[in-house]
Amino acid sequence: MSFEQRFQGRVAIVTGGASGIGLGIATRIARESGSVALADINEAALAQARKDMGELPGPVETICFDITREDEVESLVGSVIEQFGQLDVVVNCAGIVGKTATNILDYDLTSFREALDVNLVGSFLITKHAIKAMLPAGYGRILLLASIAGKEGNPGMAGYSVSKAGVIGLVKAIGKEYAHTEITINGLAPALIGTPLLLDAEEESINYMTSKIPMGRLGTVAEAAAIACWIVSDEASFNTGAVFDLSGGRATY
Ligand SMILES: NC(=O)c1ccc[n+]([C@@H]2O[C@H](COP(=O)([O-])OP(=O)(O)OC[C@H]3O[C@@H](n4cnc5c(N)ncnc54)[C@H](O)[C@@H]3O)[C@@H](O)[C@H]2O)c1
Repeated sequence: MSFEQRFQGRVAIVTGGASGIGLGIATRIARESGSVALADINEAALAQARKDMGELPGPVETICFDITREDEVESLVGSVIEQFGQLDVVVNCAGIVGKTATNILDYDLTSFREALDVNLVGSFLITKHAIKAMLPAGYGRILLLASIAGKEGNPGMAGYSVSKAGVIGLVKAIGKEYAHTEITINGLAPALIGTPLLLDAEEESINYMTSKIPMGRLGTVAEAAAIACWIVSDEASFNTGAVFDLSGGRATY
């Protein structure tokens, strides 16, 4: 089977699909013949993203939802099953950077909780409902976007770093819970990737994160999509509970 058909017959949900890494992954899955539900909280960005994707071999639908709301996550999964008849792949890219360049003494509780709610609680909810939908067919590929911030910790970014460390714990725990099935749960921990997420980060934090990358550059959305699409393909059948690096050499363990 060529790369062009790698996702033929597969149905994927990509959350955070209206922008950045999610949009890149969704485009590649649809280009490789998969059916894709682009899911995001930003309705206008979703419409624009769908337009920008143009016609691709796989069908692409857009669904507006909030990943922090369990009822909305449940109905996202339900509507994909209703429309496409199955769910094989979930890539969770919905996320926020929260406060950056902010010492813990100035980091307010509301912002801390918001980062945890979107990045970590959202990961928990989509993983739970995806597994429930995948169990009857006994096949699934779930990929959660973590971050190098969760492995190494980025100063001034308590909410983001802690939420992503939590995502890594979630991948390791739930990967083991379903290791006896054909449903895999893995994580991806990128260093800085050039996306609109960085528009919400202070220059001081961006400079710090860039300086830590031995390759001396940001990663690209295409590089993130390449590894992500392998992790959620049929070929990646002996990996679960694993967190893959994409860090230009920054990750040291
Ligand atoms: N860009 C980077 O440097 C980088 C590095 C490591 C990890 N990541 C992670 O990769 C993922 C994608 O990031 P990106 O850089 O593409 O960011 P992005 O800002 O381009 O995309 C994130 C998307 O998530 C959506 N979103 C936010 N809150 C949501 C909610 N409550 N419900 C549903 N959707 C919501 C946004 O509308 C946006 O479209 C995130 O989890 C991010 O933390 C990014």
